[in-house]
Amino acid sequence: MTLRLSSAGESHGPALVAIVTGLPAGLALDRAAIDADLARRQAGYGRSPRQQIEQDTVDVLAGLRHGRTLGTPLALVVWNRDHKNWTWGMSPWPPEGEPIGKGVKPVTLPRPGHADLAGVQKFGHDDVRNALERASARHTAVHVAAGAVAKALLAEIGIVVSGTVLDEEALRAAVDAARAERDTVGGVVEVRADGVPAGLGSYATKEDRLDARLAAALMGIQAVKGVEIGDGFALAELRGSQAHDEIGIDKRRTSNRAGGIEAGVSNGEQLVVRAAMKPLPTLMKPLASVDLATGEAATALVERSDVAAVEALAVVAEAAVAWELAVAATEKFGGDAVGDFVEAHRFYCARIE
Ligand SMILES: Cc1cc2nc3c(=O)[nH]c(=O)nc-3n(C[C@H](O)[C@H](O)[C@H](O)COP(=O)(O)O)c2cc1C
Repeated sequence: MTLRLSSAGESHGPALVAIVTGLPAGLALDRAAIDADLARRQAGYGRSPRQQIEQDTVDVLAGLRHGRTLGTPLALVVWNRDHKNWTWGMSPWPPEGEPIGKGVKPVTLPRPGHADLAGVQKFGHDDVRNALERASARHTAVHVAAGAVAKALLAEIGIVVSGTVLDEEALRAAVDAARAERDTVGGVVEVRADGVPAGLGSYATKEDRLDARLAAALMGIQAVKGVEIGDGFALAELRGSQAHDEIGIDKRRTSNRAGGIEAGVSNGEQLVVRAAMKPLPTLMKPLASVDLATGEAATALVERSDVAAVEALAVVAEAAVAWELAVAATEKFGGDAVGDFVEAHRFYCARIE
């Protein structure tokens, strides 16, 4: 079965949900490990007070019994605690009674750099909130939960994925300076994966390429504007003799400028990918915009927002990479039961040794 993930949920709606299909049966999931990743996503320098309200944890509604997967669709839920302040404004059904709480007044001041203007134009909304609620990165929470499930599957075959911020100290200084000037910042994160065997992904079609899949997964995260694999953009400045990783008689490389992927296929070296995040678009000192209700010049919406979310991105990017590796690994090793998956991996690794 193909491993698939779909999700739904608005930033201030009742909950974020994900359905994972194609997981082998018998995989042990650790609730504390999933919740730990959710907590890591919420932490980080420069995040907004929303993170104190949320304190995310996962609930599982289907597909798991006594801590092991059943081989049936796994339904994950992360509740939005902040929804209690938005029950009228984000009611799924026409709300009853007096308008109270947040989200009551339509938003008509689109923010440059956000989904606001293109979102209302595309879908014909008259309230920018109808666009921004789903465009918000809040739903990355449930993707992090799914990523934790993927990491549990990968751990069965010895693959470990971890995301970090490049230059954490510089980031903190930049956040402090930006906050003082009511501005925002971005940054670069790196995800590494150890234990990836040679042979995940394929050069057979462009859709099969592991590098293309990882790039799409990372570009699928809000505010990511650039992705590189291995030495990426720097390779363009080098000669071939300096750029490629020589092969030893043990079939290992003496360097890893390719970041563990050649021709869209993992080559057995550490996987290294980086993602560049733009500065967040919600500014406390807002940029010029237009009031969609009056057509007059205005300044953009000011709403509670992060100064930076780069450390959170490291966790979200880790989850995205783990997810893509899990998809590629289940394609290669298959199996309805987790033991079949592990045994197929062992057999394959013995062959390529
Ligand atoms: C973890 C995370 C947290 C984010 N938090 C905010 C935020 O608080 N305020 C904001 O304006 N944008 C935030 N963003 C970025 C916006 O969601 C994003 O810029 C917007 O949806 C437009 O999409 P684009 O930047 O991909 O073009 C965050 C992104 C991520 C990955």
